[in-house]
Amino acid sequence: MAARITATILPILSLLLLLAGTGAADDDKAFVYAGCSQGRYDAGTQYESGVDSVLTSLANSAPYSPYANTTSPSAAAPVAGLYQCRSDLAAAVCSGCVRSAISRLSSLCSWSTGGAVQLHDCFVRYGNDSFVGKPNTAVLFKKCGGSPGDAGGVAMRDSALGALAAAAAPAGGGYRAGGSGGVQAMSQCVGDLDAKACSDCVSAAAAQLKAGCGSATAGEVYLGKCYARFWSNGGGFASSDAVHGERLFLAVAGGFFASVVYFSLVLA
Ligand SMILES: *[C@@H]1O[C@H](CO)[C@@H](O)[C@H](O)[C@H]1NC(C)=O
Ligand SMILES: *[C@@H]1O[C@H](CO)[C@@H](O)[C@H](O)[C@H]1NC(C)=O
Repeated sequence: MAARITATILPILSLLLLLAGTGAADDDKAFVYAGCSQGRYDAGTQYESGVDSVLTSLANSAPYSPYANTTSPSAAAPVAGLYQCRSDLAAAVCSGCVRSAISRLSSLCSWSTGGAVQLHDCFVRYGNDSFVGKPNTAVLFKKCGGSPGDAGGVAMRDSALGALAAAAAPAGGGYRAGGSGGVQAMSQCVGDLDAKACSDCVSAAAAQLKAGCGSATAGEVYLGKCYARFWSNGGGFASSDAVHGERLFLAVAGGFFASVVYFSLVLA
């Protein structure tokens, strides 16, 4: 019953439970957001076996690669899926994160034709709406936190984020990291983006953080095909350790694609 109410109300209101966990973001499997399509499929259909086979295939690929995409064998009910781990992670960490993400997807988006979940260090998405290989800079989730910093910290943040957007595409994955003074930053693109599309996505993410995080000492923003984070390591901002437990504001926007509504909540 509760699940049915949620599935009905969320699409109508186009929104969203917001919550931040305390300390949970230190965990690579910490929940960030998830979204499920309004479209549903029935038990016992080819679509159901397609979703099962796609999610199984993704879980099986994760020990070997930080990114993979796959499609179901059935041409009549095609389902595609992909995952992306932070591409500097150890294979075992990636694999554990993807398995956890799939398990979250299976419970949060059961019977939805499409769904996506972002954990702290990995992203998994499936569906039949031809999303693989397509750029997507829709803002899905944004969070800023920490204590208000000062102008020097803001300048360092802008510099650190600018360096990410300008960085050459790294070999073997879309992970970029850098810093400026007391501010560190990182970004990760989904592996189906080419270098140019990745840079465009990271630029859009950086612009969101610069425009939307005021003088917060940490922030993170998740777009359709990339995310970026910045945080103070204590050298420039007044305080650095509050981001995971507090927030100045938290925003979620729909628009991944028309039929999907995003929600974010902390499940313990
Ligand atoms: C996706 O699958 C659902 C369920 O089979 C179907 O109703 C819908 O039309 C499909 N969408 C596309 C874009 O094929
Ligand atoms: C999807 O995966 C196949 C191999 O599994 C790969 O050749 C192809 O480049 C991938 N496509 C995208 C858009 O990532």
